Amino acid sequence: MSTFWSWWIIVITIVTNVGICWVLFSNRKVTVKELPKDGEVPTTGHVYDGIEEYDNPLPGWWFNMFVGTVIFAVIYLVLYPGMGNFPGVLGWTSEGQWQEQEKKAEDRFEAVYSTFEGLTIEELAVNPEAFKIGRRLFGNNCAVCHGSDGRGSYGFPNLTDGDWLYGGTPEAIGASITHGRSGMMPAWSAVIGEEGVNQVTEYLFKIGESEHDATLAAGGEKVFATFCAGCHGADGKGNQALGAPNLSDDIWLYGRSPELIRTTIRSGRQGLMPAQGEQLHESKIRLLTGYVYSLAHQ
Ligand code: HEC
Ligand code: HEC
Repeated sequence: MSTFWSWWIIVITIVTNVGICWVLFSNRKVTVKELPKDGEVPTTGHVYDGIEEYDNPLPGWWFNMFVGTVIFAVIYLVLYPGMGNFPGVLGWTSEGQWQEQEKKAEDRFEAVYSTFEGLTIEELAVNPEAFKIGRRLFGNNCAVCHGSDGRGSYGFPNLTDGDWLYGGTPEAIGASITHGRSGMMPAWSAVIGEEGVNQVTEYLFKIGESEHDATLAAGGEKVFATFCAGCHGADGKGNQALGAPNLSDDIWLYGRSPELIRTTIRSGRQGLMPAQGEQLHESKIRLLTGYVYSLAHQ
């Protein structure tokens, strides 16, 4: 907060509080007048639609409560932040409180998680307790992209099918989660032209053993060997070190229709798996790794 706004708040707060006290004390009548015998009650002289305002003092309890709130406000403003940039003598912050609660929760869960410390990923994958926690963590952190059942969707890989972009060993899965992944499929339309795109697409159908145009595929084989084999492998079976998918199976991250495949080849794709190592504690990542491992080994 800038110094100006800080003082703005301080001045308004003090003036308001002092003003309230002034109104309170200036209107206070300590002496309670005896009611005149003839039933005439003293009035303030204010009349509203024939209704007169009695001139009675504030009830004592009400007055004391009011003074109490003023004292409370002063104590509060000394202890806690409220006066502009003045942090309060206790040094309390909402962020500090949040961190403290977060730490308490971490400590509590850490105790639960540490019971799984001695287990390998393969053992975690078959441990019913670990599976339950893993499923919950997956629902909170991963399901938005990979689906609540881990089956993925367009652009988000299916984690249950045993087909891996980056590898399905416990180490590879753990690395995918901790450090994230970014797929780099370059755009090819400027390099191989529309004809090359058509040819190589037919070639992909050929190695995938589906229906294809043999003449185009023959041309595509050369295109593939020159431009694609470096990443996707000479046989098109992919390269997990680069996250280059196997193009000879019938599993398609970006759709299996010829037009979608041509779009991928023309314009490229950059799938991004965000790194979780910053947000998630190592013990949670191990449980998630076990859970993902179990999905693919059911
Ligand atoms: C913002 C979306 C998003 C979130 C959230 C996300 N992922 Fe991913 N994940 C992806 C994408 C996209 C890829 C594929 C990256 C690529 O195309 O190269 C991926 C890849 C992976 C892979 C590698 C798959 C393979 O075939 O090798 C694993 C394992 C994985 N994610 C697990 C997780 C787990 C566990 C979580 C939760 C902690 C998670 N992901 C959260 C989008 C996400
Ligand atoms: C620099 C390495 C590299 C080269 C060269 C490369 N690719 Fe890729 N390709 C990738 C990566 C990495 C992905 C995965 C992108 C992602 O995860 O978002 C991919 C994805 C694809 C896909 C999508 C697969 C799916 O499951 O939806 C197709 C199709 C494809 N590439 C075809 C080609 C063709 C055809 C060529 C040659 C003209 C080629 N690639 C050259 C790295 C490469």
